[in-house]
Amino acid sequence: MTYTVDEVHWLARNTDAVVDAERLELSASSTVRDTARLRDRYGDKARALSELVTARRAALRGGKVPDDWLVCGESAQQATPAVVAAERADFLADVLGGGSGGDGFGPVVADVTCSVGTELLHLSRRFGTVLGADLDPARLLMAQYNLRTSGISAAHVGLVRADAVVPAFAPGRVDVVVADPARRTSRGRIRDPKDLLPPLPDLVSAHAGASLAVKCAPGIDYTDWEGQVDVVSVDGGVKEACLYTPDLARHDRRAVVFRKGVRRVLTSDDPESEDVGALGRYILDPDGAVVRAGLVRQYAAVIGWWRIDPHIAYLSGDSLDAFRDGAAVPGQRIFEVVDQVPLKRLKSALASLDCVRLEILVRGVDVDPDALRRKMKLKRGREGRELTVVVARIGDTATAVIAEELHLRG
Ligand SMILES: C[S@@+](CC[C@H](N)C(=O)[O-])C[C@H]1O[C@@H](n2cnc3c(N)ncnc32)[C@H](O)[C@@H]1O
Repeated sequence: MTYTVDEVHWLARNTDAVVDAERLELSASSTVRDTARLRDRYGDKARALSELVTARRAALRGGKVPDDWLVCGESAQQATPAVVAAERADFLADVLGGGSGGDGFGPVVADVTCSVGTELLHLSRRFGTVLGADLDPARLLMAQYNLRTSGISAAHVGLVRADAVVPAFAPGRVDVVVADPARRTSRGRIRDPKDLLPPLPDLVSAHAGASLAVKCAPGIDYTDWEGQVDVVSVDGGVKEACLYTPDLARHDRRAVVFRKGVRRVLTSDDPESEDVGALGRYILDPDGAVVRAGLVRQYAAVIGWWRIDPHIAYLSGDSLDAFRDGAAVPGQRIFEVVDQVPLKRLKSALASLDCVRLEILVRGVDVDPDALRRKMKLKRGREGRELTVVVARIGDTATAVIAEELHLRG
């Protein structure tokens, strides 16, 4: 659901009602009762109030927008996490040389799918002139309210209702176009770039010749993209792949990993390790951003480990030193190897290890983890070991690596 333009005006004017609604629990079990209460006090604005409170809470949990912004359920879900939006703004300011943050000079950046203003807030901190556009008038009104609430003037960030595939800015007047086509609607996730809102091919051809930064789903196939691709993860979840046109590119690929406030970047120009070898004492599943950006060999070089098969993204090593000196990218999972057996011997191996709980990770082998777990017929009860099995094709053999997860500090 979202709001009508009238509802946005009302929410913007009635901050006391919003504060009142925020005192309510509005949880799954109390929504009906709480919304009835709001209806008694605020009539037909109860639904909008209830949506605002739940959407704000969700946006806050996702580290997305300030807690006094107007957001609806869908825009909260679509909003870029603040660290990711800031990363994009910083990268663009570094490349364009001289984001001047608020003085009205320097490069001009336009976010053509600006929604409630998430990216505009961060762009405004690095650029003197920022433009925001969206097709949805309710979102533009929310963006206007939000930016004002955050102390950003209309002279600094201009807003206009415009279709992203019909450029509203004359060629050459804008230095970079940022776009974040909607990839999820109330009907579910959109997977085909042609179905994005607006469609990716239309967006790229509408701004042909311009510098572009397009935020996409991390699973999108970007092998043919000629510019830079940044794959970004936050606390273990891969959030996006951002496509930059070649004129903005510094590298082919980057993995940008945020974990508990720590930021690490790996690039396709970093040294690579070609080493492939036998399983060592430890096995590591790299952060999803590193894997999706295709930078596993670069990561192997950073930590001095090796691949156990050229086609599998797991690394192995015998020393944890790299994780203690801060060189490693956070976000990966590290396991201590307990045993390595052919897949068909897994059941007897687990029985002898007294395993009661099993996580199964499958790579490059056609195995259904749930069916495999059922076949293992694990001992019932709480007493026993909690283990992980990595099922992977190592060389020509379907192999099960039985391991125990390590929880290193930091
Ligand atoms: C994924 S959201 C953008 C979220 C935003 N980057 C943020 O972090 O809050 C996509 C936005 O594109 C807008 N949109 C969809 N089609 C559009 C079009 N053809 N032109 C302009 N905006 C469009 C939607 O209204 C929506 O606000």
